[in-house]
Amino acid sequence: RSILEKEGCPWTHQIFDSLDSTNAETMRRLGAGAVPPFAVVAERQTEGRGRRGRRWVSPYAQNLYYSLALRIDGGARQLEGLSLVVGLAVLKTLRSFGLAEAGVKWPNDLLVGNRKIAGILLELLGDPADICQVVVGIGVNVNMQLSTEEIDQPWTSMRTEAGVLIDRNALVARLSTHLEDYLGRHKREGFSTLRTEWEGAHLWQGKLVNLTAGIQSIQGRVMGIDATGALRLSVDGEERAYSGGELSLRLS
Ligand code: BTN
Repeated sequence: RSILEKEGCPWTHQIFDSLDSTNAETMRRLGAGAVPPFAVVAERQTEGRGRRGRRWVSPYAQNLYYSLALRIDGGARQLEGLSLVVGLAVLKTLRSFGLAEAGVKWPNDLLVGNRKIAGILLELLGDPADICQVVVGIGVNVNMQLSTEEIDQPWTSMRTEAGVLIDRNALVARLSTHLEDYLGRHKREGFSTLRTEWEGAHLWQGKLVNLTAGIQSIQGRVMGIDATGALRLSVDGEERAYSGGELSLRLS
């Protein structure tokens, strides 16, 4: 039996040697009638997707490329804060491997210092106001060793931060367990109870930032997030809330 069964994983894991993208494969399976929840994992991706149309560098057998299919039947409320809650589950997993310094950056990056260690990409299938399905894509830099020029932003890996090779089977097992825990709490209690925990893990709390949407950019101070997971920024002395998958933050 694989470690995935031994540790009592909450859903099945389909493991592939190579895929275009685990998110794309999960979408195809949902389209063909597969019933959530289930996870898809690949050793590499040839067309790994990042947020805002970017590519996710996905070399063979070094990292974790993981997608989870979920059924959302609680309407738009159940989507509120969902990607942030996924971030908390990933964070808990990283910390369980000794990465005490890891934290989150709104909306759903995982960082150590200013270096990215994991990213999350949610894709929706169906009508968010009614019953829909969500693909939760998670990419973690685990044992990756690349020349830094291949990725256009500062990054790090679990191996670099922990100083040891990471067992990827144990990582998948723990990630699924923490996801089940956090997603269950989110479904039962909503986002508001997890909001404080998220703000406590936010590395950019109180920082002066530039929020970018396309070519527009606004400068403000990070006040936190609201009950829906939107970013609260203080801009010219006035507090405003921002949400949307196309937004990104930079330190000012
Ligand atoms: C980001 O831009 O930070 C999000 C990156 C998400 C990457 C993961 S890897 C597994 C899943 N499949 C994909 O194609 N993308 C996500």
